[in-house]
Amino acid sequence: MARILVTGGTGYIGSHTVVELMQQGYDVIIVDNLSNSNQAVLDGIAAIVGTCPEFVQADCCDSAAMDDVFTRYSDIVSVIHFAASKAVNESVEQPLKYYRNNVMSLITVLETMRKHAITNIVFSSSCTVYGQPDAQYLPVDETAPLQKALSPYGNTKQINEDIIRDTVYADKSLRATILRYFNPIGAHPSALIGELPNGVPQNLLPYVTQTAIGLRAELKIFGNDYNTPDGSCIRDYIYVVDLAKAHVKAVQRMLSGDADEPVELFNLGTGCGLSVLEIVNTFMQVTGVKVPYQIVGRREGDIEQVWAKADKANHILGWKADTPIEQVLMSAWQWEKKLRSNN
Ligand code: UFG
Repeated sequence: MARILVTGGTGYIGSHTVVELMQQGYDVIIVDNLSNSNQAVLDGIAAIVGTCPEFVQADCCDSAAMDDVFTRYSDIVSVIHFAASKAVNESVEQPLKYYRNNVMSLITVLETMRKHAITNIVFSSSCTVYGQPDAQYLPVDETAPLQKALSPYGNTKQINEDIIRDTVYADKSLRATILRYFNPIGAHPSALIGELPNGVPQNLLPYVTQTAIGLRAELKIFGNDYNTPDGSCIRDYIYVVDLAKAHVKAVQRMLSGDADEPVELFNLGTGCGLSVLEIVNTFMQVTGVKVPYQIVGRREGDIEQVWAKADKANHILGWKADTPIEQVLMSAWQWEKKLRSNN
């Protein structure tokens, strides 16, 4: 069976994708520098799948290390490139870290792929490239205009999309799939892998689960005076396992030669927008656990509302994010409980 190189494969979305790939019979080699993940994730993957994926601890900016990986694993047929730094605030404070980790790593991966004649890559992009779409573009599809990024993190996603397009244009043997993720949440139903935020969570769901378990005194809801039905921001929350499955579809499509264009682009979302208050209230309903919260002022740089039109991925990839939100929130809660019971 073919082998997939998964960079960032011990991270949140990466680890869930490795599970789906292995369950579909792919061999996997993970490259991760463990800068924001833990090697113990490999045990979680092994417990779910029954075998441990191959793993190399290396930085994707390290050309020699990447060259070595491609030399040792000559059966690699595609790369899924997750490895990146992803904290929006940190990127404002340390832009060069983001340009190095996110842009340099992609360049290095592409250069090494070309050297070894590996022709397929899936790239993790983000709905952040759309900024706040005008009302006429909601739900947002792949043709909506991009907006100037609000952070260096967001800018690295735009730059990387351009690097991929330019590289594929120049090298006709290459194929790429760019996946624009909306807001991934939840954990594997086994509760053996999930999100492991470092320090105080910046994202909504880990903050909700940590508050529910008593690690945080209360959740701060950033604003209830937006132009939305309940005044809080709206996002498209997608189950991480559904998201992971889309990567398998994307790889299969490229490998079978079905791609219509050298670079294909897909939004990955549910097609349904939920507000912060809806998420918090649904979480309390399904878990029966109270999440103390306070409405505070708006968070700087927040987008009011964005959700996906995911028809392209639905029709062309034959994929749909259809896990009910109740089940997704429950999976996040099971994972949080499991994490704390181990500590
Ligand atoms: N929120 C709160 N309280 C919190 C955390 C978040 O009210 O403690 C709210 C935010 O204001 C926002 C919503 O919950 O309205 C979702 O916030 P997240 O930080 O979870 O997600 P964002 O949509 O702001 O950011 C995510 C990714 C970024 C990415 C961005 C756009 O985390 O990496 O989507 O793609 F850049």
